[in-house]
Amino acid sequence: MNTATVPTPLPPLAFGDHVLPIPIIQGGMGIRVSAHKLASAVANAGGAGVIATVALSLASRYYQKGKDYYKANIKALIDELKWAREISPKGIIGTNCMVAIRDFEAMVRTSVENGAQFIISGAGLPLRLPEFAAANPHTALIPIVSSLRAAKLIAKRWHNLYKRLPDAFVFEDPNTAGGHLGVSSRNHLFLEEYSQDRVVPELAEWSLKSYSDEIPIITAGGIWDREDIDHALDLGAKGVQMATRFICTHECDAAQSYKDAFLNAKDGDVVIVDSPAGLPGRALASPFTHTLFRGGEVEAKCFAACLSECRCRDEELTFCIAKALHNAQQGNLKEGLVFTGTNATRHSRMMHVQEIFDELNGPPAGRRTP
Ligand SMILES: Cc1cc2nc3c(=O)[nH]c(=O)nc-3n(C[C@H](O)[C@H](O)[C@H](O)COP(=O)(O)O)c2cc1C
Repeated sequence: MNTATVPTPLPPLAFGDHVLPIPIIQGGMGIRVSAHKLASAVANAGGAGVIATVALSLASRYYQKGKDYYKANIKALIDELKWAREISPKGIIGTNCMVAIRDFEAMVRTSVENGAQFIISGAGLPLRLPEFAAANPHTALIPIVSSLRAAKLIAKRWHNLYKRLPDAFVFEDPNTAGGHLGVSSRNHLFLEEYSQDRVVPELAEWSLKSYSDEIPIITAGGIWDREDIDHALDLGAKGVQMATRFICTHECDAAQSYKDAFLNAKDGDVVIVDSPAGLPGRALASPFTHTLFRGGEVEAKCFAACLSECRCRDEELTFCIAKALHNAQQGNLKEGLVFTGTNATRHSRMMHVQEIFDELNGPPAGRRTP
């Protein structure tokens, strides 16, 4: 796209009780890469801001080393939702809750009770999400899927058990997305059958035929510029979820050295690691991944038992992912794991979130030249 031209505004995205002025959802980024600062900035810019709930306690005043991890996660999430709302009183703000973490249910309940307007949930099939979120039927519930089969299964189960349907689906493309990837092994990566271009049209057609288009499809993975968004909408998506694009922003909640790692990233620096969660994960090459790949010693002592199934805790293999992600967010890249999508190397400078929205959607009405 010619960057000198001002893009026409994108169509709004309706899901559940909400109408999102600009159809861009910021992807949840744990641990504490997307917390209240990033989520509120995105919400103020007209997108949907997402607080990633996993292990929020680790950089909070509530966590006593080795003690009260789960209680502290709840208190830290309440703070993050409150602070995000203070900065963005009118924006649309939700949370990302991962099925694979042990306090999934507590994170969902806490989100609903503390004003999250929607919950995006993946890293497993969120089959019981409506039950845990029942306290507020207005909280929109959005599962993450990587296939039509998974979407059908969730819709059927929710309809049969809870008489409700997902308010949207996020499709996450394992070929391009960051963090844990929705395929069982790295051998399934880069297969066309899991790609956005294949699965999004299937999901969109199913939503149209089976639900009169009432379950919007949001696509995630590798979305960077307006061309990518226009392509996603052409495929039948009603919105996009973007994560990596928001990392080198002043508002992103990670340390500056975390963001600098992206500014300095070179071709070939995006790697696949085997996560203790039993899934492949996409990450940025760092001193930590170099040690990991060389078979050197990395922190492997479980301190919080955060995952339901964990090869580090249960088999003493791999590494402690909570510690590694937390270290990176704090700026300790020697011992830190930095998740990223395939677009890691496209950052060229620090930006404000609003600048990114201006680039993608044109400036807000008041600043548009007639
Ligand atoms: C640093 C980082 C952390 C992430 N953490 C989470 C998470 O906690 N939960 C989750 O469901 N997805 C997580 N993701 C996936 C994103 O929410 C998003 O769907 C995906 O990265 C989109 O692709 P993109 O980064 O190319 O835009 C993470 C991604 C990144 C880059």
